[in-house]
Amino acid sequence: MNVAVVGATGAVGETIVQVLEERNVPIAQLGPFASRDRSAAVRFRGDRLDVRTASDEALRGFDVVFFAGGEDASEKYAPGLLERGIIVIDNSASFRMQRGVPLIVPEVNGDAVLPEHRLFPVANCTAIILCTALRPIRDAAGLASVRVATYQAASGAGRAGLDELAADERALVAGEPEPAASIFPRPLARNVVPQIGSFDADGWSGEESKVRDESKKMLGLPELQVSVTAVRVPVRTAHSEAVFVETQCEIGRAELAAAFEASPGIVFHRDGIVTPRDVEGTDNVHVARLRMESPRTFALWCVGDQLRKGAATNAVQILELLLEKGYVAA
Ligand SMILES: NC(=O)c1ccc[n+]([C@@H]2O[C@H](COP(=O)([O-])OP(=O)(O)OC[C@H]3O[C@@H](n4cnc5c(N)ncnc54)[C@H](OP(=O)(O)O)[C@@H]3O)[C@@H](O)[C@H]2O)c1
Repeated sequence: MNVAVVGATGAVGETIVQVLEERNVPIAQLGPFASRDRSAAVRFRGDRLDVRTASDEALRGFDVVFFAGGEDASEKYAPGLLERGIIVIDNSASFRMQRGVPLIVPEVNGDAVLPEHRLFPVANCTAIILCTALRPIRDAAGLASVRVATYQAASGAGRAGLDELAADERALVAGEPEPAASIFPRPLARNVVPQIGSFDADGWSGEESKVRDESKKMLGLPELQVSVTAVRVPVRTAHSEAVFVETQCEIGRAELAAAFEASPGIVFHRDGIVTPRDVEGTDNVHVARLRMESPRTFALWCVGDQLRKGAATNAVQILELLLEKGYVAA
C-alpha cells in the first residue's frame, strides 16, 4: 500500500507520519508532501525522506492520501483523487458535514463505514475528544443535552500557533514588548482567549459551530441540544473540556463509572485530576471529576491530545479500520 501525507511538515502531518510508524501500518512507500520542496525533511522508519510540492500529478500514484494541509489543499486535490477511486482521509473541515460522507471515530461510529466510501473527513479535534467521552453515556442512558466549555491548546492553531505562544512567553520573561498577536485574537501567554475562529451573525465562533454540528453527526443525534463555549488557553498541546450532560434516563455514578471503564479509548479517573501535560503524546481520552447533580444531570472533565486522538491517531485508526474490513488492500 502506497500512502501520501499532504502537510507532512505541519503539526498534524508530522504526527500522522509518526503514528503510521508507531502502529506499524503496512506501507510499501510513504510520500510526504507540503507547499514546497525540502530535502530529507521527514523521518520515517529510520530514513530521512524528501518532501515534495503537492500536485495532482504527484499524488496520483498513491492508494491512500492523508490531508493535513488545510482547506485549500484538500479542496484542490481531493476531488480528483476521489474520481480515481483513491482513499482520502482529510483533516480539514471542508467535507465533514457533506451528506452521505461519514465522520468516523472508530470507538463511536466505526460501523458507519461502508465499502463504497472513499472520502473520510476527520472530525474537529475538540468534537472527537467530546464524542469519545459521550458515547458510553449515550449508550447507557441516552443524551438529552450537552453543554461544554473548552480549554484549547495553542497547537490547535498549528505550528504558527505554537510559535506565537513561544514568542509571547519569551518576550514576557525578558521584559520586552510582546509581538503583535496575529494567529490568536489577543496575546495568549498569561491569558485565556474566548474566540476560536470568526463569529457568525448570532455570535457563535466557527469552532463552537463545528463542535456542535459535528458532534451531533458523529453521535447520530441530529436533535441533540449542544451548546459550546470555545476558549484558547496558553497550553502547548492537548485540549480539555468541562462538560455538563443531561441524559434521557436516570443513571447513577457507579453505572456511569462502569460504562467509562468498559469503553475503548477512554481512561477513567475515579479520583483526582488529569491535565493536558499528563496526556500530551498519548492516544486515549481521559475522563475525570465525574460529579452528579441529579439522576439525569452531571458534570465531568475530559482531556485528550488533539494532535493525536483529535487528528492524526484518529486518521490512522480510520485506515486501520478499512484494512481490517478489507476495504483497502495492504
Ligand atoms: N492542529 C490541530 O490540532 C488540528 C487538529 C485537527 C485538525 N487540524 C487540521 O489539520 C490541518 C493541518 O493543521 P496543522 O495544525 O497541522 O497546520 P500547520 O502546522 O500550519 O501545517 C500545515 C501543513 O500544510 C502544508 N500546506 C499548506 N498549504 C499547502 C498546500 N497548498 N499544499 C500542500 N501543503 C500545504 C504546510 O506545508 P509548508 O510547511 O510547506 O507550508 C504544512 O506542512 C488543518 O486543516 C487543520 O484545520 C488541525
